[in-house]
Amino acid sequence: MTPVPTPPDPFSKLVSDLEDYVAFETEEGRSSVEIDLTVIAELGQPPPLSASAAVPASDVPDKETAPMETAAWTDLDAVAASIADCTQCGLHATRTNTVPGEGHSQPEIMFVGEAPGADEDAQGRPFVGRAGKLLTKMIEAMGFQREEVFIANICKCRPPENRKPEPAEMEACIPYLKAQIALLKPKVIVCLGGTATEGLLGLTGITKVRGNWHTFEGIDVMPTFHPSYLLRKPGAKHEVWADLQAVLKHIDRPVPEY
Ligand code: URA
Repeated sequence: MTPVPTPPDPFSKLVSDLEDYVAFETEEGRSSVEIDLTVIAELGQPPPLSASAAVPASDVPDKETAPMETAAWTDLDAVAASIADCTQCGLHATRTNTVPGEGHSQPEIMFVGEAPGADEDAQGRPFVGRAGKLLTKMIEAMGFQREEVFIANICKCRPPENRKPEPAEMEACIPYLKAQIALLKPKVIVCLGGTATEGLLGLTGITKVRGNWHTFEGIDVMPTFHPSYLLRKPGAKHEVWADLQAVLKHIDRPVPEY
């Protein structure tokens, strides 16, 4: 008789999900992770008492920093010039280059990621590392060239050791992204991953939020998984492709079937 496979018990499933999460964050180069305490409680273990392993947050916005000159942001170059001089949060102290974003000035689609990594910090360009190469393939699979869309991030400077940006860092940086969005007026914004979705829409839980339409200041937004996640979990490409197909349908573009 063929043995019937037993479904994983909830405890093993939780442990396996946590392992996936920690592996993903490690792949991203992070040395600390945020874990929901209710998950720990479900595991029947106490929460970690020490935050000593965490990479320290950079300074919160410096109160003495000059206010942003938003009135001067009449074009993308002006926004990029302000970003290049920015000292609104502590990330400026460790950056090599700012990464304002790049692409078409009247794009149909704008992609928003989390923050630059090592390659982006070195080159001053968004999504040029491994995840960026996959993003470029995704854009081409949609029938666009990379130059035809705009690619930006929530934070314009690299967080040390690629840790997730702190809420204060995202808050300090978001005026630049808002200004870029207002100038670009894309038909659709694709949020890549949980941090971008949280930073732009204030929504957490990318697994539940992805694949559904939202709006940001009148622009339709589709959250999906981050390309780094796909490098670790290629099986999730089906979901991302479904989200990108929905984007294409939304803007009346041909939807390639693969
Ligand atoms: N990951 C991001 O979120 N943004 C980049 O620019 C590169 C990697």
